[in-house]
Amino acid sequence: MNSAEPIERLTDEASLQLDERGHLCHLLTLKGLERPLMTEILDDAENYLTAPGDLPARSRSMVGRTVANLFFEPSTRTRASFDLAGKRLGADVLNLDVNTSSRKKGESILDTIYTLEAMQVDVMVVRDASAGVPAYIARHVQPHVSILNAGESDVSHPTQGLLDVLTIRQHKGIFENLAVAIVGDIRHSRVAMSAAQALTTLGVGELRLISPPVMAPDPDAVPGARIMDNLGDGLEDADVVMALRIQRERIGNLDGIPGIDEYFANFGISHESMKRAKPDAIVMHPGPMNRGIEIEGSLADGPNSVITQQVTNGVAVRMAVLDRVSKTMATRN
Ligand code: CP
Repeated sequence: MNSAEPIERLTDEASLQLDERGHLCHLLTLKGLERPLMTEILDDAENYLTAPGDLPARSRSMVGRTVANLFFEPSTRTRASFDLAGKRLGADVLNLDVNTSSRKKGESILDTIYTLEAMQVDVMVVRDASAGVPAYIARHVQPHVSILNAGESDVSHPTQGLLDVLTIRQHKGIFENLAVAIVGDIRHSRVAMSAAQALTTLGVGELRLISPPVMAPDPDAVPGARIMDNLGDGLEDADVVMALRIQRERIGNLDGIPGIDEYFANFGISHESMKRAKPDAIVMHPGPMNRGIEIEGSLADGPNSVITQQVTNGVAVRMAVLDRVSKTMATRN
């Protein structure tokens, strides 16, 4: 984001992402996305999963469409999975190399967007370090162009939230009886925000957000969640445990942040700390992982870990979202 560009924050991004018939035209946030629509997206994603070793699911629903990946922050999983998702639906996919783009010459984000619009790009997948950018772009594109939020500052990462709840649903079925513990740098985590929004919408029994006080969220941002600072208590009889990376790139002042050994001892998800959770509790992590800091490496690779399944589900969820917005666009052309 060019710091000279003023980004007005919207108070109601949720309404911007649906058209007048309630169809999804952008995916900007999970806040306000209603349960039936969220469930439909998860069901669609299930249809794009195939057995390990089988060929990945493909369709031709986006043949002729163009998807542009615009990642103004680093990414491995989200960018690669949107790339594969678009291609497996038959779309042309453009991965703009931001480091060699004309944004480096001072071009504004909107001029970049208008340039791609002029090349008949239909879907723009946007990751940016500044809050409000996906919605800002969505307000300025033509009605037949769709914007998908691929990670917005510490605010929102909606497709990550969807793939997380899909993974939980696959293992645990209904959400109402579940205790879900999210552990780590909650305050700076867009993953935690989107997971909390999705879990709340789906009726999770109990959501616990566990962190050192310096990484605790604003309670208003996570209504209904229990904010805790003791890992053992937070993991007690948990069904799902999600570890989060410390988001150093978003922490201005590292004063008060525990050192690595202290952090792992008090907030690391390990074989030892998992003894407080249910024996069949699943272990999740959105990636990228810092082994030995927020999670013990052998636990991440162990039988209760669903971390690679989260990655697989990421492609399916992104196919479901791309397919859905392209169907909405087809009715707006
Ligand atoms: N989980 C996630 O967003 O990973 P990437 O930063 O690699 O895309």
